[in-house]
Amino acid sequence: MPLPENYELVELFSADDIAQRVHELAARIDADYIKLGAKDILLVCVLRGACVFYADLLRTLQTPARLDFMQASSYVGQQSSGNLIISKDIENIEGQHVLLVEDIVDTGYTMQLLLKRLQDRKPASLKLCSLLDKAAARRYQVPVDYVGFSAPEKFLVGYGLDYNSYFRGLPYIAELILAE
Ligand code: IMP
Ligand code: MG
Repeated sequence: MPLPENYELVELFSADDIAQRVHELAARIDADYIKLGAKDILLVCVLRGACVFYADLLRTLQTPARLDFMQASSYVGQQSSGNLIISKDIENIEGQHVLLVEDIVDTGYTMQLLLKRLQDRKPASLKLCSLLDKAAARRYQVPVDYVGFSAPEKFLVGYGLDYNSYFRGLPYIAELILAE
């Protein structure tokens, strides 16, 4: 897929906005895991969209974190029965404090299935941190424990989010407007 020829990027969250928010989130997460009595966190990056956010969060957290990565996608069958394909899985999580780091929760479909699947593996705790939350688009209930920003129902790119794999490297988050 080529880069679209005519498009406009409308900045919604600047690099400074994001950096500030990452610090606020990390401080909250540190405080919460102290209360939880967790000595460390298994910080799990949901590939690929969360990669930039994950790297920044990891470097801001004070709580010792071990890293892992997973990749999952969901397909809705014709009878609206869901299926989750995990193409990259994580190691044994039993007894561990797992914090999933996601780019954006939209309908909530993927995260709802993924959280359920991981919960069955008996982690000590399982929480979700999402950079963006399109709450108005939610169709499946997902508890998002930590939200970076509430997002409008627009198509967003940058800071890890992509359109056909492009725009992930933008240091800010923008609405992508494709010309007719
Ligand atoms: P859900 O299962 O409908 O919640 O879809 C969530 C996934 O869709 C995210 O992890 C993203 O990969 C993708 N997604 C949803 N909205 C956007 C967007 O505005 N820009 C880029 N990717 C998006
Ligand atoms: Mg994603």
